[in-house]
Amino acid sequence: MTATPRHRPPARPSPGRPDRRRPTPLYGPGLDGDALPALYERLRAEHGPVAPVALAPGIHAWLVLGYREVLRLTRDERDFSRDPRRWNLLRENLVPVDSPIRALVGRRPTLVFADGPRHRRMRAAVADALARFDRHELSRTARSAAERLVDSFAGRREADLVAHYAHKLPVRVVSRLLGADERTGWRMAEAAFGVVAANADSVNAVRRLERPLRALVEERRGRPGSDIVSRLLAHPAALSDEEAVHNLVAVVVASGRATRNWIASTLRVLLTDAGVRSSLDHGHLTVDDALDLVLWRFPPVQNLPARYATRDLRFGGQDVRAGDMLVLGLAAANADPDALPRCGRPVTGNRSHVAFGAGPHACPAQEQARLVARAAVEALRNHLPRMELALPERELVWAPSPWAGSLAALPVRFAPPPGTR
Ligand code: HEM
Repeated sequence: MTATPRHRPPARPSPGRPDRRRPTPLYGPGLDGDALPALYERLRAEHGPVAPVALAPGIHAWLVLGYREVLRLTRDERDFSRDPRRWNLLRENLVPVDSPIRALVGRRPTLVFADGPRHRRMRAAVADALARFDRHELSRTARSAAERLVDSFAGRREADLVAHYAHKLPVRVVSRLLGADERTGWRMAEAAFGVVAANADSVNAVRRLERPLRALVEERRGRPGSDIVSRLLAHPAALSDEEAVHNLVAVVVASGRATRNWIASTLRVLLTDAGVRSSLDHGHLTVDDALDLVLWRFPPVQNLPARYATRDLRFGGQDVRAGDMLVLGLAAANADPDALPRCGRPVTGNRSHVAFGAGPHACPAQEQARLVARAAVEALRNHLPRMELALPERELVWAPSPWAGSLAALPVRFAPPPGTR
């Protein structure tokens, strides 16, 4: 990585105060996987590595676009807290109770909203519970779930790889991790998607997700198994039932959509980029390289709320006030011209992107998510190698969201494998 930022932010109109007069809306129609990269570059050119944005009418925040700035934001817990109780708009009662943004920053006893020793205690329990799940078994589970899904549409000559595949696979694997039956897994997945949809129903979606998880926690207290819930409860961190439920909410919410987007974006690249596909076919690239390329160029989590400034400070050329919200601009940081490898394209094996975040809150399930995404790509390449996009690439539709790079659908057609009924 190179060091000196190229962009010098313009002088502030009123020193000591953030420029809240012209925040760029990070909401509304038209903000999707197609439009967001151009928006990041406009904001970077206008404001430098930290730009004023609005997440909803009247809900102002800073979008952190610089690679070095995202690293500092995620690593420096003294200046930037994960605890939403510090948020000035929340403290001043300026966030409407029905604001969709509340579900994303809501205050719950989970690792996601904690700092320092409180975070480390819950993080140790969650990370150990995930890590103790046997990798070979997880790989086998993901492979066989992927193959069963491919079988379910292989005879049809066409499929939507988002709805029929990328969306379903993580739900099946996470249900297995939790030791939940598939019906419960789907109920939880539906609720988790509702949480990240950031709409008026998001707060209710959190409650819909808590119910089945609470039932699982109660059941495993009495009858432990070899699943994440049981391992979380048995961890020396001694989580209360309430803490266990809310940390499991974090696991379910964090896993579903991000893994789905990672799989869908990688399949899209393989279907649309003949160079990448041919490098893969000829062994010049591995599936893991293709997955990394997507983490650099189309990170599944585009922007992530949030951190809160613990004091007034100058950051990325802006005057940030104590209590201001800062959003992690993961996609913009990966595209920071000062951070990208000099060849302009990510080099094979380079995993210094921030797609999984960084610092103490960096994703604890990177390896597990990779096992699932790798199984998804390999099963499809093995069983349906001659597959093509069923429409011109420019007609692909993205789900409108400033948070996730989500394809709405990925329609493909293919010749069914011999012997398929
Ligand atoms: C099996 C799938 C996954 C699980 C179980 C999972 C779980 C989690 C959990 C529990 C956290 C919170 C960590 C903390 O606050 O200490 C987290 C953070 C994070 N995850 Fe994942 N995750 C999964 C897949 C993914 C994928 C595919 C991506 C995108 C490439 C991703 C991106 C992130 C990011 C960016 C954070 C950092 C949040 C921050 O800095 O505040 N995760 N994940």
